[in-house]
Amino acid sequence: MPRTITIDPVTRIEGHSKITIHVDDHGVVTDARFHTTQFRGFEKLCEGRPFYEMPSLMARTCGICPVSHLIASSKACDQILAVKIPPAAEKLRRIINLAQIIQSHALSFFHLSSPDFLLGLDFDPARRNLFGVLEANPQAARDGIAMRKFGQRIIEMLGGKRIHPAWVVPGGVNEPLTEERRTAILAMIPEAYEIAERTLAWFEPMVEHHREEILTFANFPTMFLALVNDRGQLDFYDGGLRFVDAAGNIVADHVPPAEYAEHIAEAVEPWTFMKFPYHQAFGYPQGIYRVGPLARLNVISAMGTPRADDAWRRMMQDERGPVLSSFHYHWARLIEILAGVERIERLLRDPEILSRHVRAHAEPNRHEGIGISEAPRGTLIHHYWVDDEGLVTRANLIIATGHNNLAMNRGILQAAKHYLDGRKITEGALNRVEAVIRAFDPCLSCSTHAAGQMALDVSLVGPGGEIIDRVQRD
Ligand code: MG
Ligand code: NI
Repeated sequence: MPRTITIDPVTRIEGHSKITIHVDDHGVVTDARFHTTQFRGFEKLCEGRPFYEMPSLMARTCGICPVSHLIASSKACDQILAVKIPPAAEKLRRIINLAQIIQSHALSFFHLSSPDFLLGLDFDPARRNLFGVLEANPQAARDGIAMRKFGQRIIEMLGGKRIHPAWVVPGGVNEPLTEERRTAILAMIPEAYEIAERTLAWFEPMVEHHREEILTFANFPTMFLALVNDRGQLDFYDGGLRFVDAAGNIVADHVPPAEYAEHIAEAVEPWTFMKFPYHQAFGYPQGIYRVGPLARLNVISAMGTPRADDAWRRMMQDERGPVLSSFHYHWARLIEILAGVERIERLLRDPEILSRHVRAHAEPNRHEGIGISEAPRGTLIHHYWVDDEGLVTRANLIIATGHNNLAMNRGILQAAKHYLDGRKITEGALNRVEAVIRAFDPCLSCSTHAAGQMALDVSLVGPGGEIIDRVQRD
């Protein structure tokens, strides 16, 4: 009889989900599916609410990436106000967005995935975690904790509190940056550079030991999507959409956010709550594309900062076109951490960053607003329609994890077929199937708008009983 192997829950990812692998009579893998198991209709919850509540409401859709939703949502609201926000406000929003990307990438790389690199994918699963890393490579574990803290402290210093800062608002931000806080953040920059460079230094030579994973972790041709600035460089906050194909040809460029729906459509499958976005012109599922760190590094013409450009060229040097293996999301994440530190420093050294003018006030002046930004996991789209009173009549969100849904499913199928060959199912093989998902670092919390119950809560406790770090997952 055909059988189904279930991995439930998938560990070391953000949110609750499961993988099912379908096997025929002969033990041959026929299908693999990535399911999300919870759902709340957040788009529906928006309806009837005043548009200006959207940023803080949307931030509450996800306890993992609230800052990313604040940014995209506030940008959509700026459009409803029909204002151009003050330059200092845009720069401050950029800083908090970068801080979120850094802390999220640090969590993904160090806490969730570094056990696979530093201990091995076949290592004892009971110790294949950050505690194991702390024993085997204390420096890497400490670096991970410090890197994450760097991003979190910047978010706290700007937004006032760690979770759901209400500091980013329609029209700009709530409060200007003080000289004192600028100095405090700048003082943290040198250590952040050290950690980012030190981590790349051990990670890069280790890549060659993962040839098999590189070949089998969602390694196939797809398009890639990300925002780029007017020079085609990386832009996490604004710009136009660029699609490139698997050979590196630009399929669409500088697409204004307002025209996203001419390129992106969403398909539905009966076995999961998550939709499957695809590029309209190519149809479903041929219009498959990937977003996120790897996609961003594949679509850009340059990173736009010197240290990250060096690291980016090292990653791209062997490839004639885009890097197709999703294993390299990890490498891309490290390069983006470095880029984020450079960009934060550059923004803080701009004298305009201390301007008192950080918010434009207006009434609603448009019936529609679209905000697109790059979240840690990829392109994030918030689209609202409002009535004459500014009440939301309809909302559409396309979140980063959604864009990658087709590729994640195809990726676990590829890995399952390779590693679950025959009837021999090993823990190491199952871990590799899960590791494909971890490479994408999906946020199931915001892709399913899950209610946010903590199924897992890991605290790293120091010798004196103090909590060094804590990771919570729904
Ligand atoms: Mg949607
Ligand atoms: Ni999220």
